[in-house]
Amino acid sequence: MSGTKKRFSHEMLERNVGLLIFFSILVVSFSGLVQIIPLFYQHSTTTAVEGVKPYEALRLVGRDVYIREGCVGCHSQQIRKLQSEVQRYGPYSIASESVYDHPFLWGSKRTGPDLARVGQRYSDEWHRIHLRNPRDVVKESNMPAYPWLQKNSVEGADVQERMKVLRTLGVPYTDEDIAAAPGQLKGKTEEDAVVAYLQGLGVGGRAAAQQSMVDGGR
Ligand code: HEC
Repeated sequence: MSGTKKRFSHEMLERNVGLLIFFSILVVSFSGLVQIIPLFYQHSTTTAVEGVKPYEALRLVGRDVYIREGCVGCHSQQIRKLQSEVQRYGPYSIASESVYDHPFLWGSKRTGPDLARVGQRYSDEWHRIHLRNPRDVVKESNMPAYPWLQKNSVEGADVQERMKVLRTLGVPYTDEDIAAAPGQLKGKTEEDAVVAYLQGLGVGGRAAAQQSMVDGGR
């Protein structure tokens, strides 16, 4: 180095731990934002894909039971772009299938199988037996039993408030949807709600996801 003093140089950064940390954080944060911010504005991540509709009242309540019971701790809901996953579970998940999920239930642990496309794979009756005692249909299962779901009514659920809050987050519920919600819960149990939720998983967006896969998808 020549004797002239530079105001700011790479060497200065490397020799000063405080500055190095500060600028490293700055660079990592900036590059993170460059990747994340566009996702809030892209059509493919903000608009529901064809076939995906907001959860009807019963399914919405079922989803809340799913969250409460911690199903997400053992089940993911995202099929990855791997051949083995697609063969096992169906077309891989695309972002626009989960725009109405607040919060997302993608999960990260698979003690049990992925559930992103479990809808209509089994009968309602299968799900009921399975939820009451998984061992009755899958002998070696280590999934816990949820026998209380069939006894709990969902009639008093605060579904209208939930729908109103979801509407502020962008889920297009109409006033009629919200008015009709309690009627859809009449005489239903938590088990009915969870089964309805499960039976809808991955069904609406399936055709579009399949198409996106054929197109080389994004
Ligand atoms: C401790 C981990 C664990 C928890 C918690 C759990 N499961 Fe499971 N689940 C499993 C395992 C393991 C299997 C695979 C064996 C079987 O089918 O029972 C499974 C299978 C399933 C299947 C069948 C999937 C398929 O493609 O065959 C469904 C549906 C399911 N679970 C729903 C639920 C729901 C709903 C809840 C919450 C009420 C839940 N699970 C909680 C471990 C768990």
